[in-house]
Amino acid sequence: MSSAPALASGGGVLPRHVAIIMDGNGRWAKKRFLPRVAGHRAGVEAVRAVSRAARAMGIEALTLYAFSSENWRRPEEEVGDLMGLLRLFIRSDLAELVRENVRLRVIGDFRRFPGDVVALIEDALARTAANTGPVLVIALNYGGQAELTEAARRLAARAAAGEIDPASIAPATIEAELETRDLPPLDLLIRTSGEHRLSNFLLWQAAYAELLFVDTLWPDFGAAELEAAVADFGRRQRRFGGL
Ligand code: FPP
Repeated sequence: MSSAPALASGGGVLPRHVAIIMDGNGRWAKKRFLPRVAGHRAGVEAVRAVSRAARAMGIEALTLYAFSSENWRRPEEEVGDLMGLLRLFIRSDLAELVRENVRLRVIGDFRRFPGDVVALIEDALARTAANTGPVLVIALNYGGQAELTEAARRLAARAAAGEIDPASIAPATIEAELETRDLPPLDLLIRTSGEHRLSNFLLWQAAYAELLFVDTLWPDFGAAELEAAVADFGRRQRRFGGL
């Protein structure tokens, strides 16, 4: 296999793994005097468009922050609306994901969601598990600090049981405990809507990722915006701490 990095259509290097903090649904709706749920609905359309575009471009993994572990603080009605949209998305898009050889993955503690949503997700995961194409990762009830805390807890338990020597714990040991362990390294992390924060998303994985903050509100982010982001990535010089 060639070790040369894949090239994007514009000639730049293609990121293998892109993650997106999909922000701005509420503001998109407000600008249109619509209820917030309309913004989330439009956000699902953008999820569809961007995941199709990522596949067409040859991006191996796309990780989308759909529900953070802090999103429970939103009004109950909005949490319910987001669950409803997740149900709709799985029902309407699963066949396409299966057909397109996409492997669906979830990171985060989605088992705290309503029982029927958990069942739908588990069915979708099972039905795409044998697929060999690009990976669509949805972060649901995900938090980077919780992910790292869990990893620390598991390693501490193994150390206490005498199974591992604490001195042998290296970054790779921790990485192997993360939910993203079998995904390509995160190359590009995008946040929409002009906010400049990581909001507890992929904290470990972002260590050497290129960060891109764009003003576009998530529902307005589509194939053209993803292509522009990838072109921007292709122009950056990555040094990973070297010169
Ligand atoms: C941030 O916008 C967006 C979210 C908290 C949810 C993202 C969810 C979706 C795009 C839809 C569900 C996804 C799937 C995969 C079915 P915001 O509401 O915080 O926007 P604001 O900052 O403008 O209020």
